[in-house]
Amino acid sequence: MKGIILQGISKSFGDEVILDNINLKIPGGKFFALIGPSGCGKTTILRMIAGLEIPDRGSVFLGDQDITHVPVNKRSVNTVFQSYALFPHLNVFDNIAYSLRVRNFSADSILQKVEKVIRMFHLEPHLYKQISQLSGGQQQRVAIARAVINEPEVLLFDEPLAALDLRLREKVLLELIELQDHLGTTFVYITHDQTEALTVADQMAVMNQNGKIDQVGTPKEIYEHPKSVFVANFVGTTNIIQGVMVQHGEQWYLDVDKMICIAIKVPEGMEDIKAGDDACIGVRPEKIMISKSSLEGFSNNLSGIVQSIVYQGRFTQYNVRLQNGYMLQVFEQNEEHFAREVIDYDDHVYLYWQKDNVVLLKK
Ligand SMILES: Nc1ncnc2c1ncn2[C@@H]1O[C@H](COP(=O)(O)OP(=O)(O)OP(=O)(O)O)[C@@H](O)[C@H]1O
Ligand SMILES: [Mg+2]
Repeated sequence: MKGIILQGISKSFGDEVILDNINLKIPGGKFFALIGPSGCGKTTILRMIAGLEIPDRGSVFLGDQDITHVPVNKRSVNTVFQSYALFPHLNVFDNIAYSLRVRNFSADSILQKVEKVIRMFHLEPHLYKQISQLSGGQQQRVAIARAVINEPEVLLFDEPLAALDLRLREKVLLELIELQDHLGTTFVYITHDQTEALTVADQMAVMNQNGKIDQVGTPKEIYEHPKSVFVANFVGTTNIIQGVMVQHGEQWYLDVDKMICIAIKVPEGMEDIKAGDDACIGVRPEKIMISKSSLEGFSNNLSGIVQSIVYQGRFTQYNVRLQNGYMLQVFEQNEEHFAREVIDYDDHVYLYWQKDNVVLLKK
């Protein structure tokens, strides 16, 4: 299956620069997610891949073919929109068959193809219903079936689940993962919901508000090793701490207000960092261990006072005030396999974590 390459894409609407020299490689045959805050230009990128928008500068490639100026209907690309964009006056069968009829397929082959996707999406009982007689989830399936029937090289999804409730969203997400596995088509999936992206994607890209892509990687790379404060904050929850870099022997530390010292590991590619530089680090709340007792074996050990405790079902969130006034969040799993100490408001606690769990972030 062919991948997509965006090469030096820029786009402005009036004076507003929406996309600023975007370079992105979307691998063929994979589930690729593009995430970013509302208004950052995700739909605009998708519309360029679909051919609904022409970039001011740069090129779009499908495999090794430059398709920047190829018209919509000549691209092997289909889109599933958030609004589904189904034809309200046609029934399910006719909605799905529509594009085949436009392309003059024979009645026999239309019937065959429609039956196949109908089975794939479990739409048999709804074949002759009008669109208005379907639930949101069923409409959703019709929209995907309609895109799949053309057997495109690339399927584009623009927040296709936004209108569904949480349960249904989770269900359809799993179906989409299976579908991608089964078809092997290149999927490009847009969402502003980072958990959705982490769940579905083989690879993902995170866009920022300035029309640029901050980071591309597997969900695990993005979550465990965010490169910027923006990505660390946008994907999951992170404690961000600012300070000054100091070095003792081989070991680097972040000095915070001359009160707190945090051991860190400087990653490859950031070796040009110098003692005295201002820096930002991130620590995920679930990487921190909270305890009232003093423990050995951690590269970081800070003390603080519990300010609030919020029960979150699967985990409990502790907000702990450090000596310098910084608040850190800690998530502790509520697994309760064995009895453990009870931590209360105003308790004096220690926070422990390993330096491998600290990421150095670009501002
Ligand atoms: N045809 C247009 N004319 C003028 N401005 C536009 C046009 N299309 C998009 N924009 C602007 O471009 C910016 C990016 O829009 P886009 O729809 O790509 O964002 P998005 O990332 O998909 O956001 P959301 O998550 O809310 O869907 C917005 O500020 C929007 O107002
Ligand atoms: Mg959008």
